[in-house]
Amino acid sequence: MKVDRQLCIGLSLNKTWMKGNSWRRPDSEVEKMGSIKYYIELAKMAEKSKLDFLFMADYLYVSSQMIGDSASFGSPDPTMIFAAIAGATERIGLVTTISTTFNPPYVVARQLQSLHWLSNGRAGWNIVTSIEGAENFSDSPMPSPEERYAKAMEFTDVVRKLWESFPNEAIVIDRESGIFADKDKVTAIHHSGEYFSVKGPLSIPSHSSGPIPLFQAGASDVGRNFASSVADAIFAAMPDMESGVELRNDLRRRAAEQGRDPNTIRVLPGLYFFLADTREEALELHKAAHAHLSTERRLSSLISVLGLDLSGFSLDQRVTADMLPDSNQPVRSRTHAELLRRYITKAQPTVKEVLARPEVVGSAHWVSVGTVEDVLNDIMERHKAGAIDGFIALPGGSEKSMEIFFEKLMPELVERGLFRSEYSGSTLREHLEIT
Ligand SMILES: Cc1cc2nc3c(=O)[nH]c(=O)nc-3n(C[C@H](O)[C@H](O)[C@H](O)COP(=O)(O)O)c2cc1C
Repeated sequence: MKVDRQLCIGLSLNKTWMKGNSWRRPDSEVEKMGSIKYYIELAKMAEKSKLDFLFMADYLYVSSQMIGDSASFGSPDPTMIFAAIAGATERIGLVTTISTTFNPPYVVARQLQSLHWLSNGRAGWNIVTSIEGAENFSDSPMPSPEERYAKAMEFTDVVRKLWESFPNEAIVIDRESGIFADKDKVTAIHHSGEYFSVKGPLSIPSHSSGPIPLFQAGASDVGRNFASSVADAIFAAMPDMESGVELRNDLRRRAAEQGRDPNTIRVLPGLYFFLADTREEALELHKAAHAHLSTERRLSSLISVLGLDLSGFSLDQRVTADMLPDSNQPVRSRTHAELLRRYITKAQPTVKEVLARPEVVGSAHWVSVGTVEDVLNDIMERHKAGAIDGFIALPGGSEKSMEIFFEKLMPELVERGLFRSEYSGSTLREHLEIT
């Protein structure tokens, strides 16, 4: 079968396959995680399968719950990891995550443009407004989502203006006349806004491959407006097909309203897959990955996700819409809270079912568990329904699950015409077909 538009696929390097108890498997080789060689190996594997890009989420805080029984060599700066990977790869895109809430735009514009040069046009920026960490930046308590998004919009505008302030065309390199760069083409931006005051120009010229593609994560109303105005791709939390179709249609509609071609915005959910040779084995992997989460831990996670305290209820009690807290109360991520509210309203699940939801045990991503055929069908179904333009692979359970993805599942997607067999370009813009 040949389809018009192929899937866009990235691989997350956030070591999701070590989550929960998975790192404790004898074959997990968890010690490797502390070495850059490991990331480079993974990057090469993804490039061999001609993936569009590598991706890394990033958080600027660490909670005591994140240290201890979960596998973590901390949270190394993804932009630095990608700088090292840039030298060891040639074609694959490198999408780093940088917060607009806790950084100065000049530094971020420079870091990203540097990664763009180091990788020869392969950098991408996942713009996040962050959910926690204000106390590490003299900015406690966390600013409201409205303020964070207002700042993100101005921040992104400043970064783009800085990139344009020193255009690649300004570089002349004329030995005879001794002119290296045309000064007249390098201009200050004189930005003076509500949050930032930046003169410019940037201290590094923009790379000849064109502007750095923008990704965004966060899907509340204001988040969607922001995404549809600037993003080339959205990293989405999409637990079910219905929420995916709604999100993609809505983002495409908003993009069109802003005068953009809806096809220029790609909706890429995280796909947290547990692949094994048999369905039973895959289910076992999934179960083992979450076995460490006690009921108490799930209950406290529910409070932080939704503000709902179910600790006094029995596990088989039904949870109904009237038990939901006021939707205006502050939560860490309205995207995740809204997904869970909708599920409860529609399904009236038991407490046990609520505590098993991905929004509670993990990250609300699309979870697919089974054989290559099962996961492949799942991907094709969502693609056909118009819920996705591709996905960001979050391998779950074990490294073997990731190997099966690359060795068996990816070739099936290529075979069906759903994914490329060769790169046709060598920059992230080219892979994403940004003109
Ligand atoms: C799928 C997804 C991934 C996210 N990844 C990150 C991340 O890596 N780092 C971060 O600081 N915030 C991350 N966020 C938080 C968002 O940037 C945002 O601050 C938060 O979701 C609140 O926005 P909302 O109200 O639109 O959901 C993520 C959010 C979503 C939905």
